[in-house]
Amino acid sequence: MDYSIPKGVFDILPFEPNPENCWRSSDRWQWIEKVIRHTCHLYGYREIRTPIFERTELFIRGVGEASDIVSKEMYTFKDKGDRSMTLRPEGTASVMRAFVENKLYTKSGAHKFFYIGPMFRYERPQAGRYRQHHQFGAEVIGANQPEQDVELIDLVHTIYQKLGLRNLKILINSVGSIQSRKEFCLALRNYLSPHLSSLSADSQIRYEKNTLRILDSKDPKDQEILANAPSILEFLSPEDKTHFQTVTSLLSTLGISYEITPKLVRGLDYYNKTVFEITSGELGSQNSIGGGGRYDGLTETIGGPNLPSVGFATGLERVLQVMDRQKAPFPEPPHPTVVLIPLGDPARHYCFTTCISLRHQGISAEIDLSGKKLQHGLQLANSLKADYCIVIGDQEITDMKAQLKHLSSRQSVEISLTDLANALKGHYKNIDLLPE
Ligand code: HAM
Repeated sequence: MDYSIPKGVFDILPFEPNPENCWRSSDRWQWIEKVIRHTCHLYGYREIRTPIFERTELFIRGVGEASDIVSKEMYTFKDKGDRSMTLRPEGTASVMRAFVENKLYTKSGAHKFFYIGPMFRYERPQAGRYRQHHQFGAEVIGANQPEQDVELIDLVHTIYQKLGLRNLKILINSVGSIQSRKEFCLALRNYLSPHLSSLSADSQIRYEKNTLRILDSKDPKDQEILANAPSILEFLSPEDKTHFQTVTSLLSTLGISYEITPKLVRGLDYYNKTVFEITSGELGSQNSIGGGGRYDGLTETIGGPNLPSVGFATGLERVLQVMDRQKAPFPEPPHPTVVLIPLGDPARHYCFTTCISLRHQGISAEIDLSGKKLQHGLQLANSLKADYCIVIGDQEITDMKAQLKHLSSRQSVEISLTDLANALKGHYKNIDLLPE
């Protein structure tokens, strides 16, 4: 029987034993999630939580049948009622479904959501590519203004900056409205048709099913052929052009650097007008740390009113890996204020109830319940990186007095046990509780 973890997934542990995987430690996840939540609230985004599985049709309709995600990568299963269900491969379709189903559109204006959670894609596992990965995403429904696209790019850019990420590239393009994309696809097919047999097998399939995605091909021969292909930017309608120009000029005003990348098309079929991707040189071949764009009309595709929408998502594993490689700072993991070390049974009882009472008063406390010698308790306090330890035996209980030891300075001060909580609370206001 094999109980080992399946391929392409990983545990997030409080203490990661392998230094190469320190990006997986739960303290680091909590830190980036805290920064994300704080920044989202500053920008007026509210959290949305949708189920981890949905009806398969939602993703087929929402993400697009011809996309790699739907055609190759979905975790789809039949439930006991013989209904086809799929573990969500991304968050946008689910957010749209929740928005439409709960009729949130009855309130006018822009609806701004964010989410943090796991996504599932049956991909070939490799560095930076997992079968369960985690995304932070944001979606705005009901706003067609180019400022909204820029706000989202600024939101994710600000979060990356707060997390200390450096040297990221923002690639941006416009894939136009449905009509301009149709005209472009026709021109692209005309251009590619004499080269069809020289294209990679994947691109030959895409030629029939999803011509635009050929632009995404990493195959060197395809790239050579594509070098002289028409540019989608030449096919934009005047309205698409103005939208794109406003987005790029606002980014420049905000001092956010970007590269216009006419061959950037995203792997999901719902995009129109602005698309963007953020890449990092630290990530090897899976260099996309985040991406998004406009997807006007998706609400209508899944049965709601026709509302303009825009969003992005960023992979948390990749964010943490880049932070690790760039040695971005993390706050110290939490540690107890005090470790209580009982010597003997009466003291053990006293220390246990005191430990619980300290916690009830908001003080992080631990107790050495091993029943071993003093040395063991001191080692525990040091290994937990506690601020203080206090050793309590029969004598201390009789006198109701004990030595509170400050572990880093190795200094001790006598305190009354009835006053322990106050003495430790003083620790929060004044770390120099102890006399010189
Ligand atoms: P996506 O580009 O497919 O977009 O995924 C967003 C990010 O998730 C990627 O840039 C990458 O960092 C991370 N990611 C994707 N697949 C994996 C994987 N297998 N392992 C590790 N990380 C991965 C979307 O999902 C769209 N829903 C984004 C969006 C929201 N567009 C509009 N709104």
